[in-house]
Amino acid sequence: MLEKIQKLLEEVEKLSASSAEEVEALRIKYLSKKGVINALMTDFRNVPAEMKKEVGMKLNDLKNKTQEKISALKDAAETNDSQADELDLTRTAYPIALGTRHPLTIVKNEIVDIFARLGFTLAEGPEVEDDWHVYSSMNFADDHPARDMQDTFFVEAHPDIVLRSHTSSVQARVMERQQPPIRVICPGRVYRNEAISARAHCFFHQVEGLYVDKNVSFTDLKQVLLLFAREMFGKDTQIRLRPSYFPFTEPSAEMDISCDICGGKGCSFCKHTGWVEILGCGMVDPAVLDANGIDSKIYTGYAFGMGIERIANLKYKVKDLRMFSENDTRFLEEFISAN
Ligand code: DAH
Repeated sequence: MLEKIQKLLEEVEKLSASSAEEVEALRIKYLSKKGVINALMTDFRNVPAEMKKEVGMKLNDLKNKTQEKISALKDAAETNDSQADELDLTRTAYPIALGTRHPLTIVKNEIVDIFARLGFTLAEGPEVEDDWHVYSSMNFADDHPARDMQDTFFVEAHPDIVLRSHTSSVQARVMERQQPPIRVICPGRVYRNEAISARAHCFFHQVEGLYVDKNVSFTDLKQVLLLFAREMFGKDTQIRLRPSYFPFTEPSAEMDISCDICGGKGCSFCKHTGWVEILGCGMVDPAVLDANGIDSKIYTGYAFGMGIERIANLKYKVKDLRMFSENDTRFLEEFISAN
């Protein structure tokens, strides 16, 4: 009998229940008239007289502890149940403040979308590049000043490895693995060793375009750029091409668009010229095609490159370049409607 009581005591201490119904089932099992403890009480009659005192005390103790345990379980189950009642699972969630796309992402997506509609596919390359893809394959002479320490970030102990200073390196990456027709648009981050100011940053973003095929001409380039400018800045936008120089294009040009602040009349934004520069372009130099495994006797191509910050500046009139990398949410929230 004593053993039985001891076993039951241990059993009761371990009882648990997660709802009021479960507690009630336990109460019936242990404490009801037909319950385990009452059965022991009935057996108590048969306990020899000399043991009655000890067994009686233990039995009472078991009964008390079981009652305490079951009422504690009951309390716990009731608070659980009432908390569950208070939870309204149909209630609308708190309005969660949504983030916004970064203005540079918005502009990049827009540029890529416009060229995608003209048949350009996306291509990307690494930001940590070798000298070949950034400079040599792009026809930069060994002593070209762009390679200079003042412009380029070199990876310490690896003079051949640089942070790319323009996305033109992706042209080389594409040409070395693919024969024409090639029509790619390549957005990405670039790095230059410049002091940070409102007008310059040590990293910024560019989009490169490359088209190589048979009979590609300067006229094709001009037409595509005009279409791009009108899609991006409005259908009345005018463009003009000024002769320029880049090692990887011949002839080379820089493209201006009519200033959309003063409508071409002249203002401080366009320095009273009526035009603002937005990109560099030209016909791919035959030396670049040959260096990258494309036969320049069969194919010609055009290329262009533009700064995403520059376009974003023009579109959203952001004067200070640093705003783009500070992630001030007051600035970023201005672009909610552009998302
Ligand atoms: N890579 C030039 C730069 O970073 C931009 C550029 C100019 C790219 C002319 C081109 C191009 O593809 O044809 O300033």
